[in-house]
Amino acid sequence: MRKHSLFCLAIVGACLFLLVGYNDQSKKVHHSKMISVAHRGASSLAPENTLAAFHKAVELRADYLETDVHLSKDGELIIMHDDKIDRTTNGSGYIKEMTLAELKELDAGGTFGREFEGESIITLNELLEEFYDQVGFLIELKNPKNYPGIEEKVVELVKDYYEFSSIIIQSFDADSMMKVHTLLPEIEVAVLIHPSESLLSAKRLDELTSFASYINFNVSFVSKRTVDNVHKRGSKVLVWSKKDKRLVSKAQKFGVDGIISDFSAWPTDEPIYLVQE
Ligand code: G3P
Ligand code: CA
Repeated sequence: MRKHSLFCLAIVGACLFLLVGYNDQSKKVHHSKMISVAHRGASSLAPENTLAAFHKAVELRADYLETDVHLSKDGELIIMHDDKIDRTTNGSGYIKEMTLAELKELDAGGTFGREFEGESIITLNELLEEFYDQVGFLIELKNPKNYPGIEEKVVELVKDYYEFSSIIIQSFDADSMMKVHTLLPEIEVAVLIHPSESLLSAKRLDELTSFASYINFNVSFVSKRTVDNVHKRGSKVLVWSKKDKRLVSKAQKFGVDGIISDFSAWPTDEPIYLVQE
C-alpha cells in the first residue's frame, strides 16, 4: 500500500515537472526593466507593418512588436496603420472594401525603398505564426467601431498564442478594450490616450485602470505626476515617440515602463528580457 502511494506520488511529481518544463518554453517578456517596443516593426529601417520591419525589429532585440489591425471586406484581420492602402502600397482604396486576395496582390514595400519591393500586406494570423516564439506583441485595434466584431475575432485568434508569448491588445477606444478584457481577462489590455485627452481626472484613471494593465501616452503629453498616478493604481505606462533622445530621457526620468519607438534597438540596447533563453 505504501509502495503504491509512493508510486502515485512519483507519477504526480513527474507530471508536474513536465508541466512546469513545458511552460518554461514560453517566450513571455519579463518586465523588470524598461521594455522596448518596435513601432509598426523597426519602421525607420524597413516598410512599416511588413514582415521585413518585424524581422528587423526582432534582429534588433525588440521586446514587443507593435502593430495595427483592421478588417477586410471578407472579415480577415489585416495589418496596416491607415484605414486606406494608399500611403504604404501601390494600390488605392479602403481596406474594408477589399478582400484578402485583392490586398495580397499589392506591393507594400516599394514605397519605402526599391530593395523592399515584393513585401506584401500580412494578416495578424501570419504575424503571430511567424514570431510567437520569439517576441511579444502589442496589437492595436484601429477605430474598432468601424469594424463590428473585430474584438471577438482578435480574441479568438490570440487565444492560441497568449500562453506562449506576451500579448497586449491596445486601442484609443476604451470601450473596445473593456470588451476585450471581458471576453478574455487573461489578456492584458492597454488604453491609448489621445494627446487632447491627456489630462485625466482621478475618476477617469480609476475607471481605466480597473481593467487596463497599461495606460499609454504620446511622450510629449505625459507628466511624471500622471505616470505616478497610473502606477499608484497598479497599472503600467508605455509612451510612444520617434527618435528624439531628449524625450526618451524625459520618459526614463518619469519612470515609464517602456517606450514604443520606430527603431527598436533604441533606447534599450541590452538583450531582450525573456524568461526562457
Ligand atoms: O502604440 C502607440 C501608437 O501606435 C499610437 O499611434 O498612430 O502610430 O498608431 P499610431
Ligand atoms: Ca499603432
